[in-house]
Amino acid sequence: MKVACPHCHKVYDIAEERLQQQCIPIVFPCPACKGKIELDGHVSAKAPEAAGDQPSTTGLPSGEVLKKSILKNLQELPPMPQVAQKARQLTSDEKSSFTDLAKIIETDQAIAARVLKLSNSPYYGVAGFVTSIQHASVVLGIKTLNELLTLACASSLLGSQLKGYGLDSGDLWKHSLAAAACARSLAKKKNPGLADDAFSAGLIHDCGKLILAPYIEERKTQFDDFMKDGQQSFLAAEKSILGFDHAQIAAAVCEKWQIPKKLILAIQYHHKPSGLQYNELAHIVHTADAIALMSGIGTGVDGMMYQIDKKAMEFLELSTDMISMLMAEATEYIEKTITA
Ligand SMILES: [Fe+2]
Ligand SMILES: [Fe+2]
Repeated sequence: MKVACPHCHKVYDIAEERLQQQCIPIVFPCPACKGKIELDGHVSAKAPEAAGDQPSTTGLPSGEVLKKSILKNLQELPPMPQVAQKARQLTSDEKSSFTDLAKIIETDQAIAARVLKLSNSPYYGVAGFVTSIQHASVVLGIKTLNELLTLACASSLLGSQLKGYGLDSGDLWKHSLAAAACARSLAKKKNPGLADDAFSAGLIHDCGKLILAPYIEERKTQFDDFMKDGQQSFLAAEKSILGFDHAQIAAAVCEKWQIPKKLILAIQYHHKPSGLQYNELAHIVHTADAIALMSGIGTGVDGMMYQIDKKAMEFLELSTDMISMLMAEATEYIEKTITA
């Protein structure tokens, strides 16, 4: 029988006679990663396929077994830089000033360098002018400086290549920027008080892909087969083959990053905003994501077959002219931010 290591997912073929001879639980170290593999001595007991999950022709785990193993390994994910958490605490305090925020940013030199670069980008309007974080805080103010800090922290996490999704390095980053810019514009129209949350949620809505990409790559043939007639979306393939999708994993990642709950909910439902009744942020992030995908920037294999939820369009009173305008805005935002 095939037995998959719940830690590194390497699959081993173990003779069934060997397992049936044992009536007591068997625990053995995975030869590849040394993690524990547990079997209860009966062929059907704790093998991945027997946990109520979908049968897998490849022997790779899926469903709850895979999800549990992924969530257990979330600690391997790079943490959200500490400076982001400190800044969040600071900006929730009304008495804080832009110089306090600048001091926090300066404690992380790598992030400070990115913030400075972004401060001089054409979009933020002061190219070649800002010389230090303190200077940026005076010129840009606390709100924009905080936005640049969010961008600087996210760029280090979202810039990598994700082969499972057909994304080259920088593609997810561009898509995330487009979604963030669109989400902010949509929020300004529907509920301006949500603009900052919409920007942040739009920026990290697909962070679950960082986790799922290697698992999808490992199951590439299954994904290709599932989608070969062109009738199925990549999201449907995730649900069918893995048993869950990247939005569910994103929610777990965001919890680890201590992102505020309302952003987590919007991210979790970004492909199904109607799952949350009249949740403005979820509708905004969903629509912004769809518009970003339609604009074709940083779009991977999952950009195909994706549509805006009709109810979200009605909820946001969105016309086709407005969609075109948002697409143009997002493209301009990326050009002017990335060329920093
Ligand atoms: Fe997504
Ligand atoms: Fe997306």
